[in-house]
Amino acid sequence: MRLVHTRAEVREWSREQRGAGRPIGLVPTMGSLHVGHTSLVEIARRSAEAVVLSIFVNPLQFAPTEDFDRYPRDLEADLEKAAAAGVDLVFAPSVDEMYPQGRPWVVIVPEQGADVLCGRTRPGHFTGVLTVVSKLFSITTPDLAVFGLKDFQQLTLIRRMTSDLDHPVEIVPAPIVREADGLALSSRNRYLSQTERESALRLSASLRKCEELFESGERRAAVFRETMTEVGGGGVSLEYAEVVHPETLEHVDVVDHGTVCAVAARVGSTRLIDNHALGIGFN
Ligand code: PAF
Repeated sequence: MRLVHTRAEVREWSREQRGAGRPIGLVPTMGSLHVGHTSLVEIARRSAEAVVLSIFVNPLQFAPTEDFDRYPRDLEADLEKAAAAGVDLVFAPSVDEMYPQGRPWVVIVPEQGADVLCGRTRPGHFTGVLTVVSKLFSITTPDLAVFGLKDFQQLTLIRRMTSDLDHPVEIVPAPIVREADGLALSSRNRYLSQTERESALRLSASLRKCEELFESGERRAAVFRETMTEVGGGGVSLEYAEVVHPETLEHVDVVDHGTVCAVAARVGSTRLIDNHALGIGFN
């Protein structure tokens, strides 16, 4: 596995892979790798012979009040995990390498994607995400890129951007990876104290309950919303509980197979998100 820090080195590597007829898979990350990330690498590996994993804590997607400075960074540990997962190239650029002109031109998210769920509570966040993902596509020229369903709104908006801007990249979704007790894996879980971690289980427990409701025949979206709202309390402060269409992100009144129940909450000072597409069972 090689580690590079510049766009030029990645471009050269991509040219070599292409020349050798090896399809390229991209796994974009902000580092602090966990099993959720290595599962993305495994999925990329199924169709790509050359896998590039980017590690970049992207300042553009953090508001000044958010955790950019304290976001966990541990390149050495990440490199070990990436190598063990079978990554071929790690691209770990500096902020200056990614944004040499300072404030870059950006990808603006249309209203219907920006004003709902995390877009409402984190203004500008998805502009930052889509801008860096678009740059990563241009730099790495992947055939496919893998994104986790845990960041479901991010995945939906990336799909839409890829189609609207004609990026020749296949977007591959990866299932949410959970701990045995249901907690969705997230780099931010490491901020949680033991007590907070127990409180955080309220998110996945509410989603499990939503799946049970769906399986028992309930279809009124309001009932699912109410169930997720119960996440609040016990050290958890609810940010949103929404029931939306998986592609349009619009609120629905009646749920169907694939409708997404999405929840965001603060546990202590840590913001966590989780979601579940109804009708697929809950592991
Ligand atoms: O999901 C993430 O880790 C980030 O939002 C991404 C896609 C790597 C862009 O910075």
